[in-house]
Amino acid sequence: MVTGNVVVANTTQGYVAVTLVCSHEGEKRIQLRNNEFYCSAHGARYDLNGKGLNSEGSHGLTIYTISQSGNILTIS
Ligand code: FES
Repeated sequence: MVTGNVVVANTTQGYVAVTLVCSHEGEKRIQLRNNEFYCSAHGARYDLNGKGLNSEGSHGLTIYTISQSGNILTIS
């Protein structure tokens, strides 16, 4: 799910919220793929903690703190 410039993904580690904006060249194309974050522009890959997994993703991805209370997710 994308809201504003934030991607909220249901992963094997629970809900994770990251920026939609790729740190490679700023394209807003981050998505969850194979339980990692991926940018469809040039293929940057990031793990669920935002760590870059290839040269395009080497600058990492901003992760937001997310908390859950019942059915409500709060991103900060
Ligand atoms: S802008 Fe995301 S890989 Fe280049």
